[in-house]
Amino acid sequence: MATMRLDKFLADCGCGTRAEVKKELRKKTVSVNGKTVSDGGEKIDPDKDCILWQGRELCYSKYQYIMLYKPSGCVTAVTDRRHKTVMDLLPGSIHKNMAPAGRLDLDTEGLLLITDDGELVHSLLAPGKHVEKTYFARIQGRVTKKEVQLFARGVDIGDRDPARPARLEILEEGPESRILLTITEGRFHQVKRMFRAVGMEVLYLKRISMGSLKLDESLGPGGYRFLTDEEVESLKKKENIC
Ligand code: URA
Repeated sequence: MATMRLDKFLADCGCGTRAEVKKELRKKTVSVNGKTVSDGGEKIDPDKDCILWQGRELCYSKYQYIMLYKPSGCVTAVTDRRHKTVMDLLPGSIHKNMAPAGRLDLDTEGLLLITDDGELVHSLLAPGKHVEKTYFARIQGRVTKKEVQLFARGVDIGDRDPARPARLEILEEGPESRILLTITEGRFHQVKRMFRAVGMEVLYLKRISMGSLKLDESLGPGGYRFLTDEEVESLKKKENIC
């Protein structure tokens, strides 16, 4: 890899905007090969140099991967005229071409992967890949073994084909039930339509996992963090991209 400016490297690693990075450099908390550097224009080689940010070694990544805990009330889009988008919740330093991998409804919360790695997005969303997505939901109605069986068989949601078999786990059965549902497709309003097909309404919906990636509950709605190298590797391994 060619040499690059230290401030660009730091911004690309998700350390902050160029301005934030500059401020941190002035605090003398960045070192290159053991030497403190405060000039963002310093040229570094990401393949050869050891860069420490606040004592933590940084690895350059061609792509960025962000886990966002999507809150209710913002749209899963890059731009929108009416609503705040999920991209509005992220820092200005993120790479261009970052986009959400898949969609959650305006009122759905939970795990959203945002990345510029098109190959990974394609693999996660390709209909033939059947990547598992697990949702937690509160349901108006008593969810019983009957629904578990119906969902396991594949319920008719009004499309040409019924929904693929899905795993329904009842956490709490009552006039209002709490469930976990794992589906392997991503049809429009799929979870809500599956419950409507059995005469029930989804009151609250939150995605808690996608493939091997699990929502980091310590984030809270609107929170985000970069994926760890292990999380990226595990996602790629599971989806056969290496
Ligand atoms: N199913 C839905 O109905 N809505 C979502 O946002 C995701 C899955």
